[in-house]
Amino acid sequence: MEVVHTIPELRAAVARARQAGKTVGFVPTMGCLHAGHLALIQRAKLESTFVVVSIFVNPTQFGPNEDFSKYPRTLEEDRGGCEAAGASLIFAPTAADFYPAGASTWVDVEGVSAKLCGEFRPGHFRGVATVVAMLFNAAQADLAVFGRKDLQQLAVIRRMVRDLHIPIRLIAHETVREPNGVALSSRNRYLSAEQLAQATAIPAALATAKALAQAGTTEAARLRDAAQAVLAAQPALKLQYCEIVDLETMTPVASIAGRKCAIAIACHLGTTRLIDNADL
Ligand code: PAF
Repeated sequence: MEVVHTIPELRAAVARARQAGKTVGFVPTMGCLHAGHLALIQRAKLESTFVVVSIFVNPTQFGPNEDFSKYPRTLEEDRGGCEAAGASLIFAPTAADFYPAGASTWVDVEGVSAKLCGEFRPGHFRGVATVVAMLFNAAQADLAVFGRKDLQQLAVIRRMVRDLHIPIRLIAHETVREPNGVALSSRNRYLSAEQLAQATAIPAALATAKALAQAGTTEAARLRDAAQAVLAAQPALKLQYCEIVDLETMTPVASIAGRKCAIAIACHLGTTRLIDNADL
């Protein structure tokens, strides 16, 4: 498995793969890979014959008070994981190479980016959409696989691909969870064992809302209140939002009747921010 650092090297490798009759799958990541990422790579391997994984801690999606500088960078470990999961190539650019000096072009996906994490992380989705558009343009893959854990990110990217006519097929892959139900995240490594146990209130809250919805409750306020009651019983969790949203627009709804919806939660546990969601 090759590791390349520049766009010309990436494009040359992808062109060689295409000449050899391969189809190209892409998994964008910020590294610090866990079993959730490896599942995305395995899925890409099922759907294509040449899998590119990008590893790039994208500075433009972190706010000034966020964890960009302390975000774990573990390229050597990641390399082993990528290879074992079936990746063909890692693209690991430097920020200085990837963003041309004086870069001033942004992709801003309005509306879908506004609520939920968009409210609490101003500029985050602008950074995500911009870097993903750049990565798509660099890799020229046939398909890309994203995790459902980052539900709003997925909706933003879907909208961007649609609006900009980007020729790529998006695949959403199920969230991979710790044995105790907590969604896997690179940030889970910041949690102590006690905090990891406290975080189980998040999947429990999601399951409560889902069970109510399956039993026929359609009123969003009732679903949200039931989930919030579960979260409130764990005082270590500081709730940022718990919303019932339309899956496509990521805007809060009054009722889930007749539309595809999800419950989305963001909390702080100590200094770590956790997000999770479930379809309703
Ligand atoms: O989900 C992530 O890891 C990042 O937001 C992504 C899509 C790789 C863009 O930097």
